[in-house]
Amino acid sequence: MDGNGRWAKKRHLPRAAGHKRGVDAVRSTVRAARDLGLEALTLYAFSSENWKRPEEEVSDLMGLLRHFIKKEIDEFIANNVRLIVIGNYQALESDIVAMIDDLIARTAHNDGTTLAIALNYGSQDEMIRATRALAAKAVAGEIAPGDITEADFAAHLDTASLPPLDLLIRTSGEQRLSNFLLWQTAYTELYFTDVLWPDFGAAELKAAIDSFAGRERRFGGR
Ligand code: IPE
Ligand code: MG
Repeated sequence: MDGNGRWAKKRHLPRAAGHKRGVDAVRSTVRAARDLGLEALTLYAFSSENWKRPEEEVSDLMGLLRHFIKKEIDEFIANNVRLIVIGNYQALESDIVAMIDDLIARTAHNDGTTLAIALNYGSQDEMIRATRALAAKAVAGEIAPGDITEADFAAHLDTASLPPLDLLIRTSGEQRLSNFLLWQTAYTELYFTDVLWPDFGAAELKAAIDSFAGRERRFGGR
C-alpha cells in the first residue's frame, strides 16, 4: 500500500491525511476482496524498515491502526473474515499487541476471506526467524538438517496458513518488492499501477484481477 504521502502532498495536506484516506482504501478493498470471494488478501501496512520514519508519523500510523482494529472488528465477525498478522507484531506497543491477539482469537474460526496484515514485517526478518526455529529443532534432534525441505521452511514462515500467493499488487508507480514476501513470490504474478493507495478500491482490485486472469502461468514448465 504505497502513495499515501504523495496523495496528501498533491492536495497540500499533511501526510497524516493521506494515511487516514489510506485506511478508507483498506476498508473498501477488504470489502471488495470479500465480495469477490478471494481466499486471502495480504496488506503490507507497516514494514520493519518503517521505524526509520519520523516519530510523529510512526505514532500517527499506530493511532490509525488502533482505531482501525476497534472499528472493524464487528464487521469482520459479521462477515466471516479471519484475521491473521504476519511480521513481528509482538514488538509493537503492548495495548496494540493485546488488541491484535484478541482480534485473531475472535476471528480464528471464520472460514471466509482471510485478511493478513503485515505489521513490523520484513521478509528477510521472517526468513531469519524461520531459520532460527528450524535450527533450534535440529539442535534438539527433532529434525535432521539434511531432511529440511522447502515445505518445512514454508511451514515456519508467518504465512504458513495462507494459500500460495497468486498476485502481488504494488501501487503508486514504484516497481520493487521492498522486502515483501520474497520467498512467497517465487511464481507470483506482479501487477504495478500508478494509482496512489488512497485512490485504490473495488474497481482497481477488479482491474488487477482481470489482468491476472488473462495471464498464462507455467511455473517453470512449458
Ligand atoms: C504508504 O504510503 C503507507 C505506509 C507505509 C503505511 P507512503 O507513506 O509510503 O506514501 P509515499 O510513498 O510517501 O507517497
Ligand atoms: Mg512510500
